[in-house]
Amino acid sequence: MRRSRKLVPLRRGDDATRRTRQALQERAAAVDLLAGVGSLPVCPEAARFWSERAWSELAAVPAMSQTALALVRDSADLDSLGAMMQIGADEVRHTELSRDVANGLGGYVELIPADAAWEPALLGEASSMPLPFWIVANGCISETLSLELLRARLAYAGQPTIHAVLSTIVKDEAVHQRIGWQLAARVLPDVSRAVKRELAGYARAMFELITKTFATTGLPPRSRREARRIREVTAAAGLGACPPDEADQLSHATVADHIVPRLRKLGIDL
Ligand SMILES: [Fe+2]
Ligand SMILES: [Fe+2]
Repeated sequence: MRRSRKLVPLRRGDDATRRTRQALQERAAAVDLLAGVGSLPVCPEAARFWSERAWSELAAVPAMSQTALALVRDSADLDSLGAMMQIGADEVRHTELSRDVANGLGGYVELIPADAAWEPALLGEASSMPLPFWIVANGCISETLSLELLRARLAYAGQPTIHAVLSTIVKDEAVHQRIGWQLAARVLPDVSRAVKRELAGYARAMFELITKTFATTGLPPRSRREARRIREVTAAAGLGACPPDEADQLSHATVADHIVPRLRKLGIDL
């Protein structure tokens, strides 16, 4: 079958995208962190918490890769594409850091529970979901929530190595969410009204899901008790969690006060 010929414009991005991409590259070049991991105290709850962090960082890798593929399908500018690939590489590094911290705290846990709301391998399956949906899911919702939660955890991280690791991840995530909202501001206002309605429904479904991924309120009772206990012990020991009630409350407030108003401004009727 003959395929029709297509333009490959290879455009540069706008100034804001170029600057943010540069910030990402400079951060990636500067990071060297793992020196203190060998002296962490043993704490099984914190090891489990950081294992969960590693699974969730790994799940961000296919999410960013899917976004990058959607950018290529839409002939997006190369600075946006370069930034997205760099974010994917950052998420691999965050996965390694989290695994190494979990090992320092007593051992990385390989087995994800059966009722976990996400699985990195599932997110890696082929998807033809259009770019605006990936931007809303990753750039706007996940990265913004993850930044706010990491900031809250940082406030409880009394252990110096944990504090250093978290603050490096926080700074990365701050640039990630900036890129996400920059992309959203360029792409979302131009989509059709029908797609905007679909995006609103999609965002609402994601807000439901975060009660199980970023917060613990939506988990089945037994998993919820255990998730809360792990967070309470880890927070009290200054090892990188924040107390579960605060995390739950913050997740809901971030959606209501940050994400929904910003998406509304971009024409998504929530
Ligand atoms: Fe990350
Ligand atoms: Fe990120």
